[in-house]
Amino acid sequence: MTDVLVAYATKMGSTKEIAEAIGERLRTAGHEVTVLDAAGVRSVEFHSALVLGSALYAARWRREAVKLLKRNEKLLMDRPTWLFHSGPLGTELAPQRAPRKVREIAARIGADEPVTFGGRLTAQTATGFIAKKMAQGAMAGDFRDFDEIRAWADRIAAQLADVTTPVPPAGA
Ligand SMILES: Cc1cc2nc3c(=O)[nH]c(=O)nc-3n(C[C@H](O)[C@H](O)[C@H](O)COP(=O)(O)O)c2cc1C
Repeated sequence: MTDVLVAYATKMGSTKEIAEAIGERLRTAGHEVTVLDAAGVRSVEFHSALVLGSALYAARWRREAVKLLKRNEKLLMDRPTWLFHSGPLGTELAPQRAPRKVREIAARIGADEPVTFGGRLTAQTATGFIAKKMAQGAMAGDFRDFDEIRAWADRIAAQLADVTTPVPPAGA
């Protein structure tokens, strides 16, 4: 158990950028961090904690994020875990409930339900016919609030201080 894994599941890249911002913040707080695409993560055994986020599509998490949770459920029982998802577009960013399967695993491993961050859908980043169509309409834009995301990461960093030995930031 050496570091904090920040894993993400994305289709159009915006959730990856959220994960990177979280990773950066945890690093700044002195933690060792690895940021990885959830699709490439088989086991969390070498990590002391997990932050996992998925993009929301049709109210679902991406399969690779759910798989990571399922496959590692036992290991996550004794590794603190924080979950988020990203999706809501537009000016009314109501929190989204995670799919039941995700909520059930979260409850079993002692994690809170995922927090919701706004999403991004733009003509430049949209992939696929439906997304491109949606990106021409009222939902187009970048609704991620990086201040909110960094504030969430800071709260995680503070809680992580209790479970890992932070590495002093460079120059400290
Ligand atoms: C076809 C489609 C379905 C979507 N469904 C949802 C949804 O159910 N709930 C939600 O909050 N956002 C939904 N979104 C918005 C995406 O979650 C948002 O664009 C997100 O930032 C995409 O993340 P990614 O860039 O990491 O793939 C949907 C977007 C598309 C294109």
